[in-house]
Amino acid sequence: TIPVLTIDGPSGSGKGTISRLVAQRLGWHYLDSGALYRAVGVAAGWGDIDLSDPAALVRCTFDTEIAFRDDGKELRVLVNGSDATDELRTETAGAAASAIAAIPEVRSALKARQRAFRQPPGLVTDGRDMGTVIFPDAAHKVFLTASAEERAERRYKQLNDKGVSVTLAGLLREILARDARDASRAVAPLRPADDAVHIDTTGLGIDEVVDRVLALLPA
Ligand code: C5P
Repeated sequence: TIPVLTIDGPSGSGKGTISRLVAQRLGWHYLDSGALYRAVGVAAGWGDIDLSDPAALVRCTFDTEIAFRDDGKELRVLVNGSDATDELRTETAGAAASAIAAIPEVRSALKARQRAFRQPPGLVTDGRDMGTVIFPDAAHKVFLTASAEERAERRYKQLNDKGVSVTLAGLLREILARDARDASRAVAPLRPADDAVHIDTTGLGIDEVVDRVLALLPA
């Protein structure tokens, strides 16, 4: 069977950065599952689809073509053939993603697409339910956490580097609110797989976390 390494955790835990680097080091494929939900959210926006119309969102999920292309610098995401990478990162796309991610039929429609990324020599994937629902048989599972304060600081730096003006206190409030929403939602609440290795990344640098994750795999 093709090996899978799942990296789940809350937003801002660093799972995107870590997963992509680990995949590079291993020479494995990489799937950013959140990008699929965000892509459907963006496509829904383009199609003027009401976020409170589950049937229309399910149709939109089936109709939306999503492709990834690594340009060597970063992973570009094509939605229905158009590069939507930057739009995908916006708070609007994140909010749309989290609304549509609460629809069970959307989640099951995306199941097969996610599993199709399991290709030789292996797959690293990050999200919320990779180790619990999508790849429950994965050989390697990680659950990444970090304190809310640290996650707010990371996001603050990221946005500052891009010239976006935000406050640390505002970001911390947003993160705490999103944590509460993600943990309490009825559909696919964030929880670690029973067999996941927990890594608290508070105070750790990126390389340190990458090394700890790689240490879990057989040499
Ligand atoms: O990880 P990212 O912030 O890109 O995910 C956007 C939203 O998509 C999350 O807030 C979450 O609600 C949803 N999501 C999910 N299951 C996944 C990945 C993302 O429900 N595997």
